[in-house]
Amino acid sequence: MNTYKAAVIGAGIIAKVHMKTLHENEQTSLAAVADIDAERAGALAAPYGATPYVDYRRMVREERPDIVVVTLPHFLHKEAAIWCAEQGCHVLLEKPMAMDAAECADINAAGDRCGVVIAVGHMQHYFPAVMRAKQMIESGSLGRLVMINDRRHHFYFNAERPAWFLDRARSGGGIVRNLGSHSIDKIQWLTGSAVTKVKAHLTHCGERGDVEGSGLLYVQTASGVPAVVSLCGYHNVSVNETELLFTGGQLKIGGARALWIGSDAAGYEPVDLGEAPEPFAAQWRDMLHAVESGSGPVASGAYGQSVAAAVDAAYRSHETGAEQTVEPVGPGIFA
Ligand SMILES: NC(=O)c1ccc[n+]([C@@H]2O[C@H](COP(=O)([O-])OP(=O)(O)OC[C@H]3O[C@@H](n4cnc5c(N)ncnc54)[C@H](O)[C@@H]3O)[C@@H](O)[C@H]2O)c1
Repeated sequence: MNTYKAAVIGAGIIAKVHMKTLHENEQTSLAAVADIDAERAGALAAPYGATPYVDYRRMVREERPDIVVVTLPHFLHKEAAIWCAEQGCHVLLEKPMAMDAAECADINAAGDRCGVVIAVGHMQHYFPAVMRAKQMIESGSLGRLVMINDRRHHFYFNAERPAWFLDRARSGGGIVRNLGSHSIDKIQWLTGSAVTKVKAHLTHCGERGDVEGSGLLYVQTASGVPAVVSLCGYHNVSVNETELLFTGGQLKIGGARALWIGSDAAGYEPVDLGEAPEPFAAQWRDMLHAVESGSGPVASGAYGQSVAAAVDAAYRSHETGAEQTVEPVGPGIFA
C-alpha cells in the first residue's frame, strides 16, 4: 500500500475536518498546514505534529507534498490550484471549485498539462442518505423519478461567517454560489445527468455584504428530471430537505444521515441506513484511489466545472429575467 504526503492550504473552519481525516487515514502522512494567519496555522498544526507555515508556496517547496487540499476563500482557489499543479501536486479543492466555470476550466487545463488529479470536495456524494437514495433511484423500486424539490433555508449572514463569504468579489456569490453548489451537485449526482437549463430569481437583502441572500431556481437536467431549489438565508425556520418524487412513492433526504421513504398510503417512515463511513473519510479514500489508479475521482475537476456552470447560469438568469442554457462541459463529467 502506497502512502502519500499531504498538506493543507488554509487553516479555517473546514480545514479542521481535513486535518483530522488526513491524520486518521493510514495512507496519508499529514506534513504541514499553511495560513496567512500564523496563529491559526500553528494552532491547527500542533495537535497533529504538522509543520505550520504562513506562505503556502514556501510550504509546498519545502515539504514537497504529493497531495494538497485547498481550503482558501473562493477567489484564491484558482491561483493556488494552478500553482500547486505546476509543482506536481495532486489537488483536492474545496467546493465551490472556483469563482466561476471559466476559472474552473483554467484549473482543469493546468491539471491536464501537469498530469495531476484535480478533484473537488463535493462531499455530499458520500452522505449515507444520498448514497442510499441514489441506489434506490437506480434500482427503480419506487418507479420513475419525476421531480426533485430541494430546500435549504439557513441564516446566512450570521456573525461567525467569515467576511469574505459576503463579499462577492472574494466569494463569487452568496447562498447560491456556496450552498447552491451542494444543491446542484445533489441534483446532478442523483439523476446521473448534467443540469442543462436554469431559471432563477435572487434577492439581495442581507444585513451585511453585497451577495444574494436567497435564490429560487427552476432547473432542468439532461435526464429530463426537473428540480426546484429553494435557498433562503434570512431569519427563517431552518430547513435542509431534498424530496425525490417518483411514480410509486417518494424519498426525503435530511442532511447526511436521515432518509425517509413515503407513499400516499403510509406517509413517511425512516430508512435504516445502518453503519456508514464518515463522509470526509470516504471522500479522501476516493481521492487516494484516483491518485493511485489514475481513474477519475467521483467529483473530478470537470464535474466541479459543471456545477459552477449551472450556478453561473442562475446568476445570468436573474440578471436577464430569462431561462439560461448551462455552458456544457462535455460528456466526461461522470467518468
Ligand atoms: N464541504 C463543505 O461542506 C464545506 C463547508 C464549509 C466550507 N467549505 C468550503 O471550504 C473553503 C474554505 O471555507 P472555510 O469556511 O474554511 O473558510 P475560512 O475563512 O474559515 O478559512 C479560510 C482560511 O484561509 C486563510 N487564507 C486566506 N488567504 C490566504 C492565503 N493567501 N494563504 C493562506 N491562507 C489564507 C484564512 O486566513 C482562513 O483561515 C471554501 O471553499 C468553502 O466554501 C466547504
